[in-house]
Order: sequence, then C-alpha cells, then structure tokens
Amino acid sequence: MTSRNLDQFLESNIADLKENGLYNEIDTVEGANGPEIKIKGNTLINLSSNNYLGLATHAELKSVAKQAIESHGVGAGAVRTINGTLDLHVELEKRIAAFKGTEAAIAYQSGFNCNMAAISAVMDKNDAILSDSLNHASIIDGCRLSKAKIIRFEHSDMEDLRAKARDAVESGEYNKIMVITDGVFSMDGDIAKLPEIVEIAEDFDLITYVDDAHGSGVTGDGAGTVKHFGLQDKVDFQMGTLSKAIGVIGGYVAGKQSLIDWLKVRSRPFLFSTAVSPADAVASTKAIEMLMESTELNEKLWENGNYLKKGLKELGFDIGESETPITPCIIGDEKQAQTFSKRLYEEGVYAKAIVFPTVPRGTGRVRNMPTAAHTKEMLDRAIRIYEKIGKEMNLI
Ligand SMILES: Cc1ncc(COP(=O)(O)O)c(C=O)c1O
Repeated sequence: MTSRNLDQFLESNIADLKENGLYNEIDTVEGANGPEIKIKGNTLINLSSNNYLGLATHAELKSVAKQAIESHGVGAGAVRTINGTLDLHVELEKRIAAFKGTEAAIAYQSGFNCNMAAISAVMDKNDAILSDSLNHASIIDGCRLSKAKIIRFEHSDMEDLRAKARDAVESGEYNKIMVITDGVFSMDGDIAKLPEIVEIAEDFDLITYVDDAHGSGVTGDGAGTVKHFGLQDKVDFQMGTLSKAIGVIGGYVAGKQSLIDWLKVRSRPFLFSTAVSPADAVASTKAIEMLMESTELNEKLWENGNYLKKGLKELGFDIGESETPITPCIIGDEKQAQTFSKRLYEEGVYAKAIVFPTVPRGTGRVRNMPTAAHTKEMLDRAIRIYEKIGKEMNLI
C-alpha cells in the first residue's frame, strides 16, 4: 500500500491550488517551438518562448546535431569526470570562452543546474551573498544550497546594495561576500546596472556573479550584458544558458581559468550528473559560432522587439520600462491579466499571463517574447488581436 500521508498531502494541496486559481494546466505543443505553434490542433502566434533568435529549429543546427548522432551516438555515456567528457564538450567550452571574452568556461546540463552548481562550489556557511530581490528562482536555490547568509537588496537599488555591502563587510562575520544579479530581468526586460554593481564590488571586494540567461544572444550584439557594458575583465562569473537564445539545452560559467578549474573539481552537478548529449553540444557550439560570425539574427530580434513594442504602445497598452525585446503588457489586476491571456489564445496569440508571486501583486501582465523568427505579418496579426481584445475588455 502506498502512503496515506502522501495522498492526503497531494489531494489537499492540489485542491487548494485549484480553488485559488493557482493550478497551472500545462499546454502541450504539437510539433516544434517556432514563431507559430500548434496546440490542440490550433495554430497560434507564439509570443511566449525564450527562443529569441529562432535557433531551436534552425536548419544548420539540426544538420550538425544529426551528424553528431552519427559520429558520437545519442548520449555522453558518463559524468564528465569519469569518461563523459567528449571532444565535443571541450570544443563547446572553448567556444563559450571565446564568445564571452574569458580565459575559460565550463558547461553544465542546464542553466538551473549551473546556478545550483557554481554558487555552492564557491560560497559556504561562513560567507554572505547580496542578491537582487528579483533574481531568478535558480539563483535563489543556488544561494540556499550554499548555506551562505542571503542578504536581499531592493531590485536594482544601488544605494541599498552599497549600504548592505558596507554592513556585511563591517560586521566582520563573513569570509567572502558575493553580489549576484540577473543580467536582464525576464519579467520586465530591464538590464542590471552592472557598471555601478562592479564599482560597489571593487569598493568592498565582492565576488561578482551575473546570470545572463536572458542577455546572451540578446544584449551586447549577442555576447551578453557584461559585454554590453565592456566589463568582461571585471565580472568573476559570467553565467548563461544554452537553452534560450542559443536554442538548445545547457548552462555555463565563463571566467578565469582558476575559477573554471575549481568548478570542474568541486561543482556537484558536473561531478555527479551525466553531460549533455553530443547533439546538444555541437548544436550549441554551432549556434555560438553563428552569433560570433554575424549579428544578423540579433539585429532582427531587436527590430521585431521594437516593432511589437511600438505597436502595443500606440494602442495605449502599458509596456513598462523594458530595455530589451521582452515586452510586458501590464494589466494590473491578476484575474484580468489571466482573462486577457485566455482571450488572446482564443483569437490566435499564445502569450502567457504572469501574476503574483512571479511579479509583485497588482502588476499582473501578459509577457511577450518576440523572436528573430517572427515575420512582420505575424506581428501585425498579433497587434490587431491585441487591439480587438484590449477594446473588448476596456483596457485601451
Ligand atoms: C535568469 C535565469 N537563470 C537561469 C535559468 C535556467 O535556465 P535553463 O532553462 O537553462 O535551466 C532561467 C530560466 O528560466 C532564467 O530565467
């Protein structure tokens, strides 16, 4: 017999979530995750993926992935430290380092995994981490795992960061202190104030860690937010993901050789979990090569982002303060945001509602992620649908 305690726990908690409208029914995409997707047989304009450059379905990436399956098989076969380090992983890490302008890089199985791995390999219970209040869940979990004292500072508030860094240093309680931030905040599309963060880090000898999951492929002509500000020599950890703009799967840290050497012997997901597959490794390498050779896809992404933003703003929607192609459409009331997203879906646009606790209460929104793969026709169609539903719900 299975546990009655577990059954009770599951039944009551799932019922509770459903009663409060917080139970997420997951949609199944029938086919590839492109600029248009099919769900329950309906074709929808897809404004919800992180596939910023459209690389998830790119012909060249598919082709190298197929070749790698032929030459190397479908799995890495072991964890990296036993005999799962294939020449393809080494090549990928070299490419990442060149892309990020650092001495070396280490690749992980996902961005989430990477944050769990890298933070806890360096920080411990005698340390402190200054963490932006809007940092991603994987940063929060990585910090928790390290057992370091977590000190949250107000989102992008540099006075608060400086004051808390000073207090932490003057307390004399900590061996090491890190400041950690998203490079681009995915819910609002704003960019971290890295020049000020680096200045504060220099004043207080803080370790700097930038999670650029939403900046890589997007800001700095594609090389990310650290490059955007020209700070490659001043940020200790340039963390990123291969799962969003790069279009594949995986995560990485780029930094000094000594840091990467340490992560390779001390970060647990690297030591105890099998590496990404040969197809994943070569597809990521190819994507990075393409980004280093040409900024065409990056330019297209920005062009499409600006086009969508302009269209929604002209209709009278509140699109917040985004500095990147991420385009929130802030509705306010949570239920209205959910209804708005549902109506968009019914009319042919897939744009998810994001509500508390992911964003502050009263700032419910529909979040749009235009990509380089969208055509103007698709964006125009989406804007017309926004107009129709916006008027129908008296939002514009
Ligand atoms: C800021 C940030 N960091 C890390 C991750 C995790 O990346 P991955 O999807 O590769 O696990 C995400 C994904 O949503 C993210 O937004």
